[in-house]
Amino acid sequence: ERAARRDAAVRAAVEQGLLGPGSPLVGLLDVTGIRQAAARLRQAFADVTAPGTPVLHAFAVKATPLVPVLRLLAEEGIGAEVASPGELALARAAGVPAEATVLDSPAKTTAELREALALGIAVNADNPQELARLDALVGSSVPRSPLGIRVNPQVGGGSIEALSTATATSKFGVALRDEGAREWVVKAFLDRPWLTRLHAHTGSQGIPLPRLAQGIAETYRLAEEINERAGRRQIDTLDIGGGLPVNFAGEETVPTYAAYARLLAETVPGLFDGRYGLVTEFGRSLLAKQGTLLTRVEYTKTAGGRPVAVTHAGVQVATRTVYAPQSWPLRLAAYDAEGRPKPGPEAVQDIAGPACFAGDLLAEARSLALLEPGDVVAALDTGAYYFAHHYAYNSLPRPAVYGYLPDGRGGIAFATVREAQTVEEIVTEAGAAHAT
Ligand code: LLP
Repeated sequence: ERAARRDAAVRAAVEQGLLGPGSPLVGLLDVTGIRQAAARLRQAFADVTAPGTPVLHAFAVKATPLVPVLRLLAEEGIGAEVASPGELALARAAGVPAEATVLDSPAKTTAELREALALGIAVNADNPQELARLDALVGSSVPRSPLGIRVNPQVGGGSIEALSTATATSKFGVALRDEGAREWVVKAFLDRPWLTRLHAHTGSQGIPLPRLAQGIAETYRLAEEINERAGRRQIDTLDIGGGLPVNFAGEETVPTYAAYARLLAETVPGLFDGRYGLVTEFGRSLLAKQGTLLTRVEYTKTAGGRPVAVTHAGVQVATRTVYAPQSWPLRLAAYDAEGRPKPGPEAVQDIAGPACFAGDLLAEARSLALLEPGDVVAALDTGAYYFAHHYAYNSLPRPAVYGYLPDGRGGIAFATVREAQTVEEIVTEAGAAHAT
């Protein structure tokens, strides 16, 4: 169903000229798919939580920092998890309410903290020094913002080291198993009646589900201990982060939110019984499957006897794939120049990007219908952490992004999500206005 929508969108994108001569690379987002994913997320938690439990799903803006996407998600009742002043500005531009926004960065400045408190946005303090800044800002007042502490449950990482936020040495949050740390957290709460939340994010891609659940179990146990010692329900909300991995190997969405919610219900009995409000911060699992990068084959050639298709999609949009192809292989689909799925014969070929270094490959030795100039190549499942990762090398422009949805007459309508960066913008951003 998703694949059928995508095929139709590719055809329509070519017919409607989105992939024209001046725009050999564009991003597409499946509006229907985004709405459906949001609905699945809401339903999965509604199914396991006690009636009346407050649940905020705050989309991790870093995954897809595009205002129309945040607006669409807000319409679906999804808030925003932000990690910088820029992301906060995007959430506000999208109209995400302050009470549906959570600020989580590890490097918040005092100015940023002050702004968040003035707006009433939830803040999770990353470390004791940040908490001291909050002390000074809160003073003797009662903060409007829900405030909490981020902990690192140190339950271990997954297959991608750079994305493992809950290893022993991860830079995020208070490392709970370090000497004295757990007791420090308990005391921090007992000393500050205005701290009401505990946060942990055990992610990201590559983490086995039981480990994710274990991270949340650790956090829950600590909250129980703090509340017991406080003699009241001081911690009223648990922020369990995001981190649900995505199946990049195939079309199916696995694991599902429903399966994950059930696993949490089994692993952490009590989590959903209504004593705690919940915040989630999913990014990748909401958006990855909804995005496609489309590019034209400019030239074909052979090198060392192997066919090479030179396209316009490389390191500027697929930074991780280019630099860490083992961790981030992309599923590709081939279409002809009219945007119709291209039948075989398959050939083992390199799909290259436009940037000036040899490693700028979308895929190496990939078996795909033998590509010809003018053909269209789609990089699938690129809705999260691809449009977000623009890399300015070679001054290649950020591509336009369009959302697609049924036009009500059996066709497909596109809405501009973001325009392509222009050459003039590139020149300006390269300092053209400044003296030598
Ligand atoms: N909450 C916090 C505090 C996070 O640090 C993250 C992701 C999320 C939520 C969302 O996690 P997700 O559901 O998307 O797994 N640049 C990397 C991704 C890093 C994600 C780090 N934190 C990449 O290229 O994939």
